[in-house]
Amino acid sequence: MSQSASAIAFARQAHERFLQELQTFVAIPSVSTLSEHQADMQRAAEWLAAQLRALGLDNVAILPTGDANAPGHPVVYGETLRAPGKPTVLLYGHYDVQPVDPVNEWHTPPFQPTVRGDNLYARGAADMKGNAHAALKALEALQANGGLPLNLKILFEGEEEIGSLHLGAFLDRHADMLRCDLCLNADSGVLGPALPSLVAGLRGLAYFELWVYGPAQDLHSGLFGGSIHNPAQALCELIAGMHDAQGRVTLPGFYDKARELSPQDRAAFAAHPINDAQWQTLAGVNALWGEEGFTTHERAGARPTLEINGLLSGFTGEGSKTVLPAKAMAKISMRLVPYQDPTLVERQLRDYLAQRAPATVRWELKTIAHAAPGVLLERDSVGARAASAALRDTFGVEPLFVYEGGSVPIVSMLKEKLDVDSVLLGFGLPDSHIHGPNEKLHLPTYYRGIETFIRFFENLAA
Ligand code: BES
Ligand code: MN
Repeated sequence: MSQSASAIAFARQAHERFLQELQTFVAIPSVSTLSEHQADMQRAAEWLAAQLRALGLDNVAILPTGDANAPGHPVVYGETLRAPGKPTVLLYGHYDVQPVDPVNEWHTPPFQPTVRGDNLYARGAADMKGNAHAALKALEALQANGGLPLNLKILFEGEEEIGSLHLGAFLDRHADMLRCDLCLNADSGVLGPALPSLVAGLRGLAYFELWVYGPAQDLHSGLFGGSIHNPAQALCELIAGMHDAQGRVTLPGFYDKARELSPQDRAAFAAHPINDAQWQTLAGVNALWGEEGFTTHERAGARPTLEINGLLSGFTGEGSKTVLPAKAMAKISMRLVPYQDPTLVERQLRDYLAQRAPATVRWELKTIAHAAPGVLLERDSVGARAASAALRDTFGVEPLFVYEGGSVPIVSMLKEKLDVDSVLLGFGLPDSHIHGPNEKLHLPTYYRGIETFIRFFENLAA
């Protein structure tokens, strides 16, 4: 029996234990953006560090990020470098998760992991504690069956969901420790339980808060309404102007540097296995929308966008309050495609505001994160081929390459700072509800994920 065959047999008889263990991990509410979860972040890091120690990794450590003035969430690190002459893989994951709101839309509490049918419901189950855990269980299965056939360094960060704010400086500081031949980035998904896929590109992200200020304090809307410009209205007018009737973003120069789709890209998008009706169902909408001249998957995978992520103004409690608010705020982010420059996009947003903001209000733009530029990934590298073969042998069909609309900041950082290419291999699904209520991990796909990781390591070591 080959090593992967015995490791896979080992993993199959351990499903029950793996699931129990995963549930303890996802029960830790490691929400990186909320300071009330600071202690939980530490607990999640410690849980992972204990796992790495139990797996016999060397130099396991919880390493600080940021500095004394602006501390970040820690990185969990460990390594096993006992296969001389074999490649060194950097396994990347994140242990932080997104906030749970709207919490009353969850059928079971977000940090009380619950198995219903084939799924494990919990915040972070699919994005991405399940993937991180699947990779660790692949490592365990190989170690119990002859040993890991290559060298592995593991980096789990706690700030991916807030734009990996301190990771760039961390990579600079620990460049020697992190030297490797390639990165296996587990923060990803596949198109379906029977549709394995690999990531050909990721969009980037730039994130802002736009504040609009009107009167010095909230006013009676009857006394003053009609005589001054309501800042909530002014904000909505500004936002409404950010797209034209063709669904294009109007920021000056926004598309100038954006990568054009090649004929090959367009052919691949046209052959995407999820059709518009299915996409509409996945999103739960009555109709699709987007930039004229592009198909649904082109719009979501390879065109830049501008989204409103949150709105705040006035009275939003129960019933009514006749108030003319003093201020209004919108959280606005742009998904970026390759060659668009996140700092230039900020300039374009500022230019738009300078041109369009009325003199009746005052505005302020706060940069929350220039998280990442868009990236294209290598499809013919040793790593991509090892991943492709591992998916094919596990799922029984050839994987497709797809452009992923989401962002994972470390991918471009590793390329720029350490000249390391990434292979994304993860097992979330389009209907996993990541970032939304009732996030779920499809367990059969998670178990297949473990087997895929086992084969990936074996393929790379061959
Ligand atoms: N895992 C996602 C990105 C992703 C989603 C990759 C689906 C592949 C398939 C990741 O954790 C994520 O959500 N990232 C944030 C990054 C941002 C805060 C910089 C995102 O895309 O919004
Ligand atoms: Mn993720």
